[in-house]
Amino acid sequence: MKLNIAVLPGDGIGPEVTDQAIKVLKAIALEFDHTFIFNEAKVGAIAIEETGDPLPEATLKVCKENDAILFGAIGHPKYDNNPDAKVRPEQGLLKLRKSLGLFANIRPVKAYDTLLDKSPLRKKNIKGTDISIYRELTGGIYFGEKKLSADGNTASDLCIYSRYEIERIAHLAFKASQSRRNKVTLIDKANVLESSRLWRKVVTEVSKKYPSVELDYLFVDNAAMQMILNPTQFDVILTENMFGDIISDEASVIGGSIGLLASASVGEKYAMFEPIHGSYPQATNKGIANPIASILSAAMLLDHFELFEEAETIRNAVDKSLKLHITTPDLNPKFDTITTSKVGDFIEDVINNPDDSNLNFTNIHLGQSTII
Ligand code: IPM
Ligand code: MN
Repeated sequence: MKLNIAVLPGDGIGPEVTDQAIKVLKAIALEFDHTFIFNEAKVGAIAIEETGDPLPEATLKVCKENDAILFGAIGHPKYDNNPDAKVRPEQGLLKLRKSLGLFANIRPVKAYDTLLDKSPLRKKNIKGTDISIYRELTGGIYFGEKKLSADGNTASDLCIYSRYEIERIAHLAFKASQSRRNKVTLIDKANVLESSRLWRKVVTEVSKKYPSVELDYLFVDNAAMQMILNPTQFDVILTENMFGDIISDEASVIGGSIGLLASASVGEKYAMFEPIHGSYPQATNKGIANPIASILSAAMLLDHFELFEEAETIRNAVDKSLKLHITTPDLNPKFDTITTSKVGDFIEDVINNPDDSNLNFTNIHLGQSTII
């Protein structure tokens, strides 16, 4: 298959983790005889520095002209600490999601058996966790009208949803659960918010079309507690934009590191793949950023084009790196010689040596090549 992939590395650790995902995709192309062409474009703080715009027209054009987008991360402390900044890196990502109609953000959360003791949560509570979060991505309080009074002392953000926006992601969530464990949990705040009551009503209606799927409802405050007390109860979680943002960061604690969580953002026409973590500015260029979220996002990209075997090959290679503790210091503080790019190299090597015959595992922790 020939795929043109727009690459938007963005800020902070974005470029270094995205490089590893590209490395891994090139290994897959070699092994399975595909052609992947990568076209880079700027977004976020780095784009503001160069053009004044966090999402330059040229970048949007590249995204529209390619088959898929691989996104790194955006954000910079310079803007985080300045509430008066008129232009912000995050606006680039939000505009990208909106302009491309990427209304569904899918975030898988898994407790890897080999990493159970990396989580601060009790092993017995998290073992077996396998959740797919469906976060609505182009509506809600993120995109409703924002106001700041003339005297600068009063501000508001509107949380607005229409039936259509809820229906389209609800269908995706129900369909996904049919090839999983047939359960959808809607997370909302229907005891307080009118927009949440609309979610409940519409999702309940949509559920009638999927009689084999059990629909459950949880208020977001309770869901936040359940997520760490008893996460194995969840199969597919369906929720609006802001709740999904918060609950998915919380869920990353189960896996042991936010550096493991990948995501796919899909719409009718376009699809973008990105780690859920941010730009982690303190770690930039230190070689300590975990590339696995980005690499697993590349696997989701392959799934999107129905290259299932290829995607599974990446996931198996990632599993192997985790089993052998070939991971960055977030998961492996004792071995800080294993850098971002070493993890990428190892996963690349595993993919290109499927029967392990050329892999020298004993050298790995010495920081030497994994290929004999
Ligand atoms: C995410 C991020 C973004 C969001 C930020 C960077 C705008 O936190 O993708 O989860 O809030 O959606
Ligand atoms: Mn987030």
